[in-house]
Amino acid sequence: MRNLTQDLADEAATLQAGTQFSNYLRPGCIVFLHGDLGAGKTTFVRGILQGLGYSGKVKSPTYTLVEPYTFTDFVLYHFDLYRFTDEEEWEAAGFREYFNAHDVCLVEWPEKAEHVLPKADFEIKIDIVTAGRKLQIMAMTAAADSYMGKADTE
Ligand SMILES: Nc1ncnc2c1ncn2[C@@H]1O[C@H](COP(=O)(O)OP(=O)(O)OP(=O)(O)O)[C@@H](O)[C@H]1O
Ligand SMILES: [Mg+2]
Repeated sequence: MRNLTQDLADEAATLQAGTQFSNYLRPGCIVFLHGDLGAGKTTFVRGILQGLGYSGKVKSPTYTLVEPYTFTDFVLYHFDLYRFTDEEEWEAAGFREYFNAHDVCLVEWPEKAEHVLPKADFEIKIDIVTAGRKLQIMAMTAAADSYMGKADTE
């Protein structure tokens, strides 16, 4: 499986990496974003949304848990599960249905809901290092691996 690592010197580099990553996304993709508080997960998501052509505001869904963005081919759901505690709420809120064959889900803090979340196609890891951030992009499914390969040879 493909596995990319990259140094991100500043916020602009994180945005740029997110925009680049958006080329790997296809309808139905599930992406987990790992990293400590303030690592840059939401910044990376902002870059993805810019890459998809969205130019509005991107707010961190810390209290609402999820924020939807509607595109022509799919709805992109941006989750921040830092405050997620109640697994029964997952069903009740209808979150399970967001993970389907045509929509895209980006999930910050997937660790907080590991019992209810399906498997990810991509896992992103952002580590805080002295000179900015270290980024790792991992394809976790054969489909994700082929999307990466295709986009990188285009
Ligand atoms: N490569 C980078 N180098 C230095 N600072 C960065 C870099 N990328 C992003 N930042 C900064 O890190 C800060 C936190 O970013 P962000 O809100 O995206 O983190 P987060 O991982 O989503 O945090 P949380 O877990 O609280 O949601 C922002 O001020 C952003 O500008
Ligand atoms: Mg965040």
